[in-house]
Amino acid sequence: MTTLFKNIKELVQVRNTPVSYVSGSEMKTLPTIKNAFLIVKDGLISDFGTMNNCPTLKFDNTIDASGKLILPAWCDSHTHIVYAGNREGEFVDRIHGLSYEDIAKNGGGILNSAKKLQKISEENLYKQSKVRLEEVIKLGTGAIEIKSGYGLTVDAELKMLRVIKRLKESYPVKIKSTLLAAHALPNAYKNNKIGFLQLLIDELIPKTAKENLAEFIDVFCETGYFSVEDTELILKAGKAHGLLPKIHVNQFTAIDGIQAGLKYNALSVDHLEEMRKEDIMDLKNTATMPVALPSCSYFLSIPYTPARKIIDAGLPLALASDYNPGSTPSGNMNFVISTACIKMKMTPEEAINAATINGAYAMGLEKEVGSISIGKKANLILTKKISSYAFIPYSFGNNQIETVFINGNPFN
Ligand code: NIG
Ligand code: FE
Repeated sequence: MTTLFKNIKELVQVRNTPVSYVSGSEMKTLPTIKNAFLIVKDGLISDFGTMNNCPTLKFDNTIDASGKLILPAWCDSHTHIVYAGNREGEFVDRIHGLSYEDIAKNGGGILNSAKKLQKISEENLYKQSKVRLEEVIKLGTGAIEIKSGYGLTVDAELKMLRVIKRLKESYPVKIKSTLLAAHALPNAYKNNKIGFLQLLIDELIPKTAKENLAEFIDVFCETGYFSVEDTELILKAGKAHGLLPKIHVNQFTAIDGIQAGLKYNALSVDHLEEMRKEDIMDLKNTATMPVALPSCSYFLSIPYTPARKIIDAGLPLALASDYNPGSTPSGNMNFVISTACIKMKMTPEEAINAATINGAYAMGLEKEVGSISIGKKANLILTKKISSYAFIPYSFGNNQIETVFINGNPFN
């Protein structure tokens, strides 16, 4: 099966020599080809170049992309899209003055989602979650990480992970699964945190690994949730079972969570709204990807990750949605890049690099997706007729996507 895209106004994020990720000042450059062609063969990118070099072979499909751009599909490296019900009541409570922390202290927040998650059947959880997955694919996401973490019991966590597995088997996008083992302390262990951690270490982590239900291990390392010590215990146990750390740190307070992640070679450290000088320094010359989640800052009215400080220090940065029912009920990566440009002062080039190749790296998928490179998956965004790629973040809240292709096939 072959498809030719011809007369592409601009082919964006072209990497002839594939890179793992881009950092610092490299992020300012977004390589493109104007007036381009792209060939897809059996779901993979097999050739591209300028129109004057376009082969005159016969193709199964030919798509005229005159006036339109093609980009690699977004790589969303941090989501919680498997959940039950919603929390719009808490949203209204926050409008009336309660804080996210107040709501959590009153038994809302993650515990509220856990109550719903524990009751729902696996089938219904799958049905609710697949709606969100389809929604984000249509918004341009072609690779996604999904976390557990709303179960808070061994059975409910395994239920979430099995739903992620079923999504992996049922949809053509690349999906990576994370065991968010320590997300909140359930009421049953209110006065026995060590007992809960022991349950995770003795039962949940080994069962997850045995059933091959996750690639990554995550902890919400935060004041009032799990300490650095707790985090290290879980990361150590996860690593012993082959689960690579990807962790929630520095959302509300900077308590050395980044350093704990670095100690266990985390693939990524995510949130980073509160960053000290030493946090940025310590990330230098490591293989750990910093990940910012601007839609979370937007929705909770908390500080934005200091992208300028991070990138100007020479570090890489990835952008992800954090789609979840409490802090970010949106998985729209187009909005994420707009917000990164508008609120974090990232340039469109930096934001698109952060949401494609760097996001792919933050999921261990940099060899398969995240750039226009020969041999990578043909997970592509075909835009409407627009003036330039900067128009995508500029026209915030609007959708500039005409069609999303996954493995070369339109996703409708
Ligand atoms: O990434 N911060 C921790 N976890 C989620 C939100 C959890 C919730 O409120 O449901 C996040 O923001
Ligand atoms: Fe999150």
